[in-house]
Amino acid sequence: MSIASYPALRLRRTRAADWSRRLHAETVLTPADLIWPLFITEGEGEEPVAALPGVSRWSMAGLVERAREARDLGIPCLALFPNTPAHLRTDLGEESYNANNLMCRAIATIKDAVPEVGLLTDVALDPYTTHGHDGLVDDRGYVMNDATAEQLVRQALAQARAGADIIAPSDMMDGRIGLIREALEGDGHHNVQIMAYAAKYASGFYGPFRDAVGSRGLLKGDKKTYQMDPANAEEALREVSLDLSEGADSVMVKPGLPYLDIIVRVKSSFEVPVFAYQVSGEYAMIEAAAAVGAGDRDALVLETLMAFKRAGCTGVLTYHAAHAARLLGA
Ligand code: PBG
Repeated sequence: MSIASYPALRLRRTRAADWSRRLHAETVLTPADLIWPLFITEGEGEEPVAALPGVSRWSMAGLVERAREARDLGIPCLALFPNTPAHLRTDLGEESYNANNLMCRAIATIKDAVPEVGLLTDVALDPYTTHGHDGLVDDRGYVMNDATAEQLVRQALAQARAGADIIAPSDMMDGRIGLIREALEGDGHHNVQIMAYAAKYASGFYGPFRDAVGSRGLLKGDKKTYQMDPANAEEALREVSLDLSEGADSVMVKPGLPYLDIIVRVKSSFEVPVFAYQVSGEYAMIEAAAAVGAGDRDALVLETLMAFKRAGCTGVLTYHAAHAARLLGA
């Protein structure tokens, strides 16, 4: 047997031992890469969300406990979403900029108790409207861009005044990043960041979230006139470019796993911080797969989160954040 019949290069060599696999890892995932989305309720106790096994809506006291947990696990930031009581939802979503709304009270309460944890707050009207849309609808049901943007500016200012660290507009209106940046500067919030939901797709993966914030039953029609068509990638780059030019500090791609190609293209085109949102339907899919024995839960969680880092993400919003941080810390 001549030597030539053996491969000169064996890529399995570096995989042969655990120490070597660790030494050669090209990507690392740490708790500092995670943003933990939390739902807020006006109620007293913990309210499990049926569509998201293991995820609950939290009262103020519960939120503070979760913030301490995040701090102790090394998770740098929380993302907050309110389930606004039904009687406060209106056609125009005015509750979104009430300085005393559920969101603003949660921001102030957490900031007071656990100031070292960052707070990212969602800007969009869907948890506050009677029709479940992210903006104001005209008499034909069309979501009006510029009138909506005015409401979003008010909402963003209320959140910044309450102590939000990152304003994250998830509404997909045109021009809102620039308007919000200008308003934040004018109100003295120079260091409040904007993470733009820049490439947000009209996705089938948001169902459980809409249950959690109580908008699923309300939503009339779909969000295709403002969220992106899953067929499009170039358009995502235009969205990102526009949001950056208007002052976004970082951009988000959402959903996550079905759009890894978009993450790669955004990262290679712009070299800015890119975040992914592993959304509610993705979480539910992993939990469902684990529940029927189709895969090991912990392995699925860590593999999908690593995929976002490998694709170029600076960080990931995931409902598995605390669980993943525990696995990583073990
Ligand atoms: C609303 C908003 C949505 C999500 C975050 N902000 C839902 C939607 O656009 O309908 C989805 C997050 C998830 O599914 O986990 N503006």
